[in-house]
Amino acid sequence: MAHDEVSGTHSAASDSSAVETSRGASTGTAVIASDVVNPGEPPHRHRVTDIDPKAEKRAQRSVYTLFYLSIAGSIFAVAAYMAFPIEDGDQAALRLNTLFIGVGVALALFGIGLGAVHWGKALMHDKEGIDLRHPVRGSEETIARSVEIFDEADRESGFGRRTLIRNSLIGALVAFPLPGIVLFRGLAPQDEDPAQLLSHTVWKKGARLTLDPSGIPVKASDVTIGSVFHIIPEGLNDLEDRLEQKAKAAVLLMRLNPADLNISPERKGWSYDGIVAYSKICTHVGCPVALFEQQTHHLLCPCHQSTFDVENECQVIFGPAKRPLPQLPIAVDSEGYLVAQSDFHEPVGPSFWERS
Ligand code: FES
Repeated sequence: MAHDEVSGTHSAASDSSAVETSRGASTGTAVIASDVVNPGEPPHRHRVTDIDPKAEKRAQRSVYTLFYLSIAGSIFAVAAYMAFPIEDGDQAALRLNTLFIGVGVALALFGIGLGAVHWGKALMHDKEGIDLRHPVRGSEETIARSVEIFDEADRESGFGRRTLIRNSLIGALVAFPLPGIVLFRGLAPQDEDPAQLLSHTVWKKGARLTLDPSGIPVKASDVTIGSVFHIIPEGLNDLEDRLEQKAKAAVLLMRLNPADLNISPERKGWSYDGIVAYSKICTHVGCPVALFEQQTHHLLCPCHQSTFDVENECQVIFGPAKRPLPQLPIAVDSEGYLVAQSDFHEPVGPSFWERS
């Protein structure tokens, strides 16, 4: 064992004659073993499918069976969607629908995933190789070589040659999106124009503003300065499709000092003594705008923090929303209750393609 004059430590490496100690300029710690030989790659072990043609056939059958299983799963999911329709209020139907669609989609994914893995592990070429690191940008020769490699991969994987497997995989991939298409199509209204449905709400002239969810009408005298009320149209709770209608018609009602409101000429008469009503549906992606900052008179959407300025007709002052919240014109009836003058003058909520 030698003593290091510089660091004051002992070097164990100096005890071995087989090891040469190299002292670098800065640290003096690099150690190079002079007799180490690169052992190379271990001998290649062939897979059973490489040496036994029967095993190869078996693996081939398993792979395309899994892809066919995937196709069956996709078809099963579509059939389940039709066979177990969701009836309003029927929990058993909902459970069956969810269960069988889930089973079908799981089978479809499982078949494609397992089939692809099994194909790669059992049948694709089993050559081992070493790829040295090289600059990221390729030369013309490299590009030409990549094309060759693609051809080679095609030959070795058998993608072009094993047509039964290839076609069954293509079939499985084509069939897999079908449940999604059928399910999303089922969400759209069947007999009505979606653009029309999105453009109008159930608010109409004379409809009273009522509390959400009780449906109790609100008098102008109930709305004190600084207060905010969550509002639904009168009679909404009696509608069969009340949830769909509420998703468009929900309103926030606030009272400010009339002097704080900057009202444009075309909206004169849409408010009553500082009481204003705005759509509660965020114009970004439709979350309920539920937070009112009493001091600043700002409405805040909790989803992505879009902020609307109530003093200035709910213009967007922060966040991703692109349009102000639509205003509901209101008035007071002969009994002092707040009523709508009409529906909104523009579609509520997020943008859609046909929105004008
Ligand atoms: S939905 Fe309101 S900010 Fe995104």
